[in-house]
Amino acid sequence: MFFVAAFTFGLLATGAFAIPSSAERLQKRIERRASNSNRAHRSSQPAQRQSSLTASVATSNSLLSNAEHATVYTTNWAGGALIGSPAGTFKSVTGRFVVPKVSMPANGNASETYYASAWVGIDGYACDTAILQTGVDFEVIGTTVNHYVWYEWWPELSSDFEGITVKAGDTIDLLVTASSTTTGAVVVKNLKNGNTVFQNLTSSDALCESDAEWIVEDFLISKVRVPMADFKTITFTNPIATQSNGARVGPGNATIIEMRQNGTVFTSTTVSSTSVSVKYLTS
Ligand SMILES: *[C@@H]1O[C@H](CO)[C@@H](O)[C@H](O)[C@H]1NC(C)=O
Ligand SMILES: *[C@@H]1O[C@H](CO)[C@@H](O)[C@H](O)[C@H]1NC(C)=O
Ligand SMILES: *[C@@H]1O[C@H](CO)[C@@H](O)[C@H](O)[C@H]1NC(C)=O
Ligand SMILES: *[C@@H]1O[C@H](CO)[C@@H](O)[C@H](O)[C@H]1NC(C)=O
Repeated sequence: MFFVAAFTFGLLATGAFAIPSSAERLQKRIERRASNSNRAHRSSQPAQRQSSLTASVATSNSLLSNAEHATVYTTNWAGGALIGSPAGTFKSVTGRFVVPKVSMPANGNASETYYASAWVGIDGYACDTAILQTGVDFEVIGTTVNHYVWYEWWPELSSDFEGITVKAGDTIDLLVTASSTTTGAVVVKNLKNGNTVFQNLTSSDALCESDAEWIVEDFLISKVRVPMADFKTITFTNPIATQSNGARVGPGNATIIEMRQNGTVFTSTTVSSTSVSVKYLTS
């Protein structure tokens, strides 16, 4: 599975990769984390559904059978998700997006740090015991924006990739592949500069393989939800979820997820069979 997917990304075609040993990787991770202590404590989270809206979640399945786009509200996710398929359904998810020019929110404080994250993944919604995911974080301090490319098998913390740089305007390809419920791989490629990184993963926290999603997240640092940056619009194209029967499905039937905090919905998401687009709503 991984090799088929990797080939799509031109990994094998481009030839040799120097694979660092796990000791080298660990050492690099420690060095990297030392340079930005926040990154050592970064984690995604399953979708935090808003309890007052449980009823609309239940309704969503019947709406979905009519190919309607049900909308659900969470504190931390916005985007599109194919949710609640039978266990073992989803084997890989791809997505491509152009890195937006993020900024601090209107009335933000230039001394504070704001964030957002764009990623693709398997599980974390109907199945909230594990998530296999990879994506890019945006960190905004005043007019400075830093980008971090990361992967995570939640509930483990995330890890940052090195060997890939990202700037606003770059086009990024993301791929997660579950070769089993406890093994998988992630690949990220920056189409602008050709940087490509990948990682094989194993976990004792088994996936269900029942959800496939394209998400903008308000993630956690040290278990605290970070203040949200104005991420403008993030549009995932090439959104393909490959199923165990080989079928490749787009987000055409995806449930729309909007982020709501402090009683305010601040995302506007649109889903089609070929894209998932999330817009940050300025108040
Ligand atoms: C902006 O953030 C800094 C650092 O946290 C804080 O000291 C300052 O009081 C904040 N300013 C305003 C206007 O909230
Ligand atoms: C990654 O996983 C694939 C398939 O599971 C395996 O064949 C390959 O050797 C692994 N690569 C590394 C670097 O561990
Ligand atoms: C909601 O309120 C919390 C706590 O004051 C704050 O951290 C968060 O940034 C707010 N969310 C938005 C979207 O303003
Ligand atoms: C949506 O679901 C219906 C019913 O399962 C299916 O026939 C249709 O192909 C799906 N559409 C897309 C775009 O996946």
